[in-house]
Amino acid sequence: MNNVIVSPSILSADFTEMKSAIAEIKNAGAQWVHCDVMDGVFVPNISFGQKMVGDIRKITDLVLDVHLMIVNPEKYIEEFAKNGADYITIHYEATENLEEALKLIRQCGCKAGLALKPGTDVKVVEKYLDLIDMMLIMSVEPGFSGQKFKPETLDKMKLFGEMAKGKNILLQGDGGINMDNASTLVSCGCTCLVAGNAFFKAENKAEVVKKLKGI
Ligand code: DX5
Ligand code: ZN
Repeated sequence: MNNVIVSPSILSADFTEMKSAIAEIKNAGAQWVHCDVMDGVFVPNISFGQKMVGDIRKITDLVLDVHLMIVNPEKYIEEFAKNGADYITIHYEATENLEEALKLIRQCGCKAGLALKPGTDVKVVEKYLDLIDMMLIMSVEPGFSGQKFKPETLDKMKLFGEMAKGKNILLQGDGGINMDNASTLVSCGCTCLVAGNAFFKAENKAEVVKKLKGI
């Protein structure tokens, strides 16, 4: 039984058609909705904030997977939790108070995710393993959808699997994931795959989800 989680990123959707984008995610068989929050400081792009998450919460029971690409995410964790986030993922590179921030995510009743940019050594997360429910290893530089997958990040995924053996931590891949490389990511330990352009630009979205799940 295959249980890869597919989390389409609404960054690649038409924001004026968000309701139908969420319906497409559900109808295609994906389990999560990936919400890329960008502040124009941590990354050179600005996307949307907690209101988008709150509005989507009102129209779906899918898992809301919020990826915060913002500096000092601890300032906004409660806001995103109040607006219905299920998973809140913050970047290792974005805060001086990582331990407190991760604890705060769980205190707010959410699952805690920790993200790394492609260039950050995976060993840095070792001391946070008991504080996280999900690890996100970025396979593009955060900031934009539609970039090319960086294969050199696969080794980090494998290494994470060894470090986190026996722990109940999801491993999420994000950036440039498509029907051709999904099985490689899964073989390197990914249990959750984000897809922006590969999902929203596809005619047959159910087929994309099936292929990402490996079925
Ligand atoms: C990049 C975002 C990704 C991105 C995925 O900063 O975190 O979630 O939107 O889009 P694709 O799948 O098109 O690379
Ligand atoms: Zn993302």
